Amino acid sequence: MEKQHSLIFLTGFSGSGKSSIGPLLANSLGYNFIDIDSAIEEQEGKTITRIFAEEGERAFRKLEQAMIATIAERKEMVASLGGGALEHTPTFELISTTGTLVYLKSDPKNLAKRLFHKTDRPLLRSSGTEKPDREALERNIYAILEKRSPRYESAAITVYTDQKRIGSTVEELTRKIERFVRKQSSIEQNDQHKDRP
Ligand code: S3P
Repeated sequence: MEKQHSLIFLTGFSGSGKSSIGPLLANSLGYNFIDIDSAIEEQEGKTITRIFAEEGERAFRKLEQAMIATIAERKEMVASLGGGALEHTPTFELISTTGTLVYLKSDPKNLAKRLFHKTDRPLLRSSGTEKPDREALERNIYAILEKRSPRYESAAITVYTDQKRIGSTVEELTRKIERFVRKQSSIEQNDQHKDRP
């Protein structure tokens, strides 16, 4: 499968802003947009929380992998991933070999603040929909982040989202992505020249 540098996979922990930034970024770049979690919910006719409860995380990761595979050859597209998508190695490999990974990085304390009132993130709830206390949530986020960080940090582009308005994050991302895609294309063109006799 050929790598498409303009296929942008937006990653980051829950609450880092992927779903809100994704469509704005796609609009700013003139690309198409897909939210992988929403596409799975639509396809399965149930919420992610229900998929986790009824079929388990493993089944969800397989659905995620299959959904990402359907867009793996697209160009000029922004795909917002679920925060745990990269944990599943086949999905991580698929993403790394087919597109450009972009990481929205946030401080765990800010993530905890934003996620505290949400009940639809099954992995952050210790038991069902019960709301944990802030400190327990923060500890949970730290532990999961530590495990996920190496793959998040493998992104070609990283942008910090804390203390920034969404508009400036989108502008910064647009600039960095356009520059990156242009650079990769010219490297490829030069390589093709070199290969010619
Ligand atoms: C998950 C994050 C969620 C969703 C699912 C699992 C995770 O997406 O895919 O609940 O493993 O961190 P968001 O990152 O949009 O919250």
